[in-house]
Amino acid sequence: MSAKIKYTFIKDAKGNILSGITSLYKAQGWLDKEDTSEKLVKIIYGSAAFLIAENQEGRIIGMARAIGDGISDAYMQDITVAKEFRGQGIGTELVIRLKKHLESLGYSWIGLIAQDNSQPFYMKAGFKQIMSAAPMMSDKSHV
Ligand SMILES: CC(C)(COP(=O)(O)OP(=O)(O)OC[C@H]1O[C@@H](n2cnc3c(N)ncnc32)[C@H](O)[C@@H]1OP(=O)(O)O)[C@@H](O)C(=O)NCCC(=O)NCCS
Repeated sequence: MSAKIKYTFIKDAKGNILSGITSLYKAQGWLDKEDTSEKLVKIIYGSAAFLIAENQEGRIIGMARAIGDGISDAYMQDITVAKEFRGQGIGTELVIRLKKHLESLGYSWIGLIAQDNSQPFYMKAGFKQIMSAAPMMSDKSHV
C-alpha cells in the first residue's frame, strides 16, 4: 500500500474533484453521452458512501461507492483505479475501507458484482462468491 495516497469519503463534489471523478467514469465507459456533471453530483449525494483516492498532486486516481438502504443491505459498485496507478494496492485499499465503513454504519449484508473476472481481486479484499446465485439486470440495463 502506498502511504502517499489520501482516502476520503465525500458527500458532494465540485471543481477538480468532480472533474477527476468524471474522468474516472469516462475512462471506464460508465457514463452515457447524455450524462452531465449534475447527474454525477446527484449520484455522489445519493450514494450510501462515496470514497475517493487522491495522490500527492491532488489528482483523483481511484474511487469506490456503495448504494444502500441506510440500515441493512448495501451494494458496492463503480470501483476503479486510473490505469497508470493500478497494481499498487490502491484498489484493494478502496474496497477494504469502503467495506469497513459500511460495516461501521451497521450494514450487515454487503454485495457487489465482480465484472470482467475480477473475483480474485475481491476475494483478496474479503469477499466470497455466491455459488448458488447469478447477477441479473433488467432488459433495458447495460453494463
Ligand atoms: C480492479 C481494479 C479496481 C484493481 O485496482 P488495483 O489498484 O490495480 O488493485 P490492487 O493493486 O489492489 O490489486 C490487488 C490484486 O488484485 C489483482 N487484480 C486486480 N484486478 C484484477 C482483475 N480484474 N482480475 C483478477 N485479479 C485482479 C491484482 O493483480 C493484485 O493481485 P496481487 O495482490 O496478487 O498482485 C482496477 O484494475 C480497475 O480499475 N479495473 C477496471 C475497473 C474494474 O474492473 N473494476 C472492478 C470490477 S467491477
